[in-house]
Amino acid sequence: MSDRPRLLPLLGATRHGSRDAMTCLYRCGNACDHPVPNTSDNAYFGDVVNAEVSRRGLVRGGAVGALVLGFGGAVAGAAPAAATPAAPVVPEAAGFARPAGGVGNGALTFKPVPPNTLDSLVVPNGYDHAVVMRWGDPVVPGAPEFDLHAQTAAAQARQFGYNNDFVGVLPLDGRRRALLVVNHEYTNEDLMFPGFTGQDALSVEQLRIAMAAHGMSVVELERVDGTGQWRPVTKGRRPYNRRVTALATKFELTGPAAGSAHLRTAADPKGRTVVGTLNNCAGGVTPWGTVLSGEENFNQYFVGGDAVAEEVKPKLARYGVTTTTRYPSGSRKWERADERFDLAKHPNEANRHGWIVEIDPYDPESRPRKHTALGRFKHEGANVIVARSGHVVAYMGDDERFDYLYKFVSDKKFMKGNSWVARRHNLTLLESGTLYVAKLDETSAGEIDGSGRLPSDGAFNGRGRWIRLVSGNRSYVDGMTAADVLTFTRLAGDKVGATKMDRPEDVEPSLLTGKVYVALTNNTDRGKAGKPAADEANPRNLNKHGQVLELVEDRGDNAGETFAWSLPIVAGDPADPSTFFAGYDKTKVSPISCPDNVAFDATGNLWISTDGNALGSNDGLFATAVEGPKRGHLKQFLTVPVGAEACGPFITGDNRSVFVAVQHPGELIGASVENPASNWPDGDFAKPGVVVAWRLDGGPIGS
Ligand code: FEO
Ligand code: CA
Ligand code: CA
Repeated sequence: MSDRPRLLPLLGATRHGSRDAMTCLYRCGNACDHPVPNTSDNAYFGDVVNAEVSRRGLVRGGAVGALVLGFGGAVAGAAPAAATPAAPVVPEAAGFARPAGGVGNGALTFKPVPPNTLDSLVVPNGYDHAVVMRWGDPVVPGAPEFDLHAQTAAAQARQFGYNNDFVGVLPLDGRRRALLVVNHEYTNEDLMFPGFTGQDALSVEQLRIAMAAHGMSVVELERVDGTGQWRPVTKGRRPYNRRVTALATKFELTGPAAGSAHLRTAADPKGRTVVGTLNNCAGGVTPWGTVLSGEENFNQYFVGGDAVAEEVKPKLARYGVTTTTRYPSGSRKWERADERFDLAKHPNEANRHGWIVEIDPYDPESRPRKHTALGRFKHEGANVIVARSGHVVAYMGDDERFDYLYKFVSDKKFMKGNSWVARRHNLTLLESGTLYVAKLDETSAGEIDGSGRLPSDGAFNGRGRWIRLVSGNRSYVDGMTAADVLTFTRLAGDKVGATKMDRPEDVEPSLLTGKVYVALTNNTDRGKAGKPAADEANPRNLNKHGQVLELVEDRGDNAGETFAWSLPIVAGDPADPSTFFAGYDKTKVSPISCPDNVAFDATGNLWISTDGNALGSNDGLFATAVEGPKRGHLKQFLTVPVGAEACGPFITGDNRSVFVAVQHPGELIGASVENPASNWPDGDFAKPGVVVAWRLDGGPIGS
C-alpha cells in the first residue's frame, strides 16, 4: 500500500488529457492523427422534436424482466460443461442477499479519494486492495512462471495476457468460488521486451508473443477468508481456466453475414471460422452466464490497404484502415508473422474483425463466437437486458469521434431457469434479431453554443428514436443487403442519418430500472472547422472531458423504438461552469474527466471509470447515485498508478468486492522495461493487472 517512488520523472508527450503519446500509438495506432473516419454528411439533429421533457417527467423503467446474474440476484442457468467435473452451484441457491436500501439512490458513504499523481493504487480509508492477476501470471494449469528474459509465445498463450480491460466475475459456487473473465486489449512492445528498439526489429517469435498476449483469460478465483478479497486458485485441476488469443483460438461466425462473400478468405472459403480476436476492449456479462467482448481498434493490425480494389477502399477507410500507404504508421507488423494481416494478399480478413464476441466461461471446450447480427464497428462492448416482452436487448457504442450508438433486439425470447434446454436456447439469442442505430433530437437546440452552458429549461435533454438497419435477412437501408449492413454498419448508420456522438464507449442498462447509461469519453474535434458543431447531447466544442448520457426507453420497454435522453453528468472540474452533475451541489463533487466504462453495484448506483483524465491527475473509478436526492453526488473511489487507465469495473452482487483493471501502467513516451515510468505493482517493471478492493470491516461497499 506504500507509494513507491517513480524511478524517473519521465515527461511523456501528452496527447489527450493525461493520455500519453505512447498509448495513442499502441492502443489505436494514433487514430487521432488520421482523419475522422466519419466524413458522411448525414444531418444530426435534423428534425428537432419540440417535446419538452423534463427529467422527472420521463416514464420510469418500472419492473424490468431482467435477471441479475451474479452474486445476490437470481441467476440464469450457469450450467457446467460436459467436460467439467462439478456443476457450479448457482448463487441463487447459495443465498446471497442483496444489501438493504433503495434503488440507485445513494448510501455511498466512503470518503472520496482526492485527485493525485501517485504511482500506486489508492483506495478510501477503511478499504484495502490486492492484485488478483497480473501480466504473465500462469492461467492454464502447468503454465510456466513468467520469465521476462525467456518469454515464448507458447508460454504467453498459457499465461495472463497484457493490458487487461473488461472484467467480469461470474459465480461458480456462490460464496466461495468464481470465474474471472478478462479482456486483453492490446500490447505495448516497448514495455514488454527488454532491449526493444522498434517494431521492425522484433523477431517473429516476439510478434507471436504479442499475438498470444491479446485476447481473453478465464481464471478460477476463491474468496479469501470470507472477506471481499479474492485470489486465483493455484492448485488442482482448475478446469475452467482458459486463454483465448489472437494467435490460435478459433471463432465461429454466426448470424446473417456469416458465410457471406465479405467474410470468405483463402484460409476459410466458407466464411464461417476466424482465427483470433483483436483489441478486445469492454464487454458485458449476459443473463444466461456468458461474456460478451467488443473488438475495437482492429484497423491498426492490417497493412496493404493501398492494394485493394478501388471500390473496397471507402469501406476500409470508414473503419480507419489506411488505404493510401502499404505500411501505415502505428501498424503492428503482424503480417511478418501471419500474412492474413496483409490486405494486399487477403483483402477480406479485416472484415472478420470488429464484431461482438461471446464466450461461455462455464464450458471451457466451447468455441467462442463472433455474432454478425450485432453489426461490425469499433465495438467498445455490449451489455444485455431482458425486455418485458422477454426479448433480449444489447446496447452498444462505436468508440470513434462522431460515431454512433446502437442496440440489438433478439428475435427469440429469453428462457428462464437453469435447465439445459434453457441454456442451449439462450446461447442462440444473439444469432438473429434487429439492429438499430440511435437518432437523438433536441429540446433546446437554439441555446446550444458549444460552451456547455445549461439551457434555460435546466437540462441537456431530448427525445430520440431507434432507426432500424436490419432485421434478420431483411435490410432497411437502401442499396445495402443485410450482409452489407452488418459488415459495413458504419456506412449504414451514415445513410440513415444517425446522430454523431462524442466517442460512445461503454453503454450499460441498469438491471434495476431499465435506464441505460452511455459514457461519451471526449471529442476534441467537435466544433473544429469542417466538423460537426456542438449539439444538445454533445454540448461542448473541443470537448476534452466528456459526458454521461442517460437513456430512458418509452414505457420502460427496452425493446421499443423511442426514448427520452438527458445528460446527468457533463464532466470536468466542478469549478468549471461548463460542468453539470444532475444539479447536485458541485462543491461536494469529485472532479472527473473522460468517462469510459460504466457499471452498477447491487443497489443500482452508477460506477464510472476514466480513460485519459484531462485534469492532470491519474485516472480513477467513481460512483454516484442515479436516483433520489443524491443523484449527481459523484465521488472518487480509487485512483490508478501513473500512466494507467482504470478499466473494468465490476462490483459483485453482494456489494462486497470492487474489481478494477489497471491497464497500461507506466505507458509514457521514453519508458521501457529497463527504465520504467511506473513500478506498479511489484516494484520493478510495470505490469497491467486486475485488482480487487474491499471494505476492511467486511461491510458492503459504501454503506
Ligand atoms: Fe478500448 Fe474505447 O476504449
Ligand atoms: Ca433541454
Ligand atoms: Ca474503453
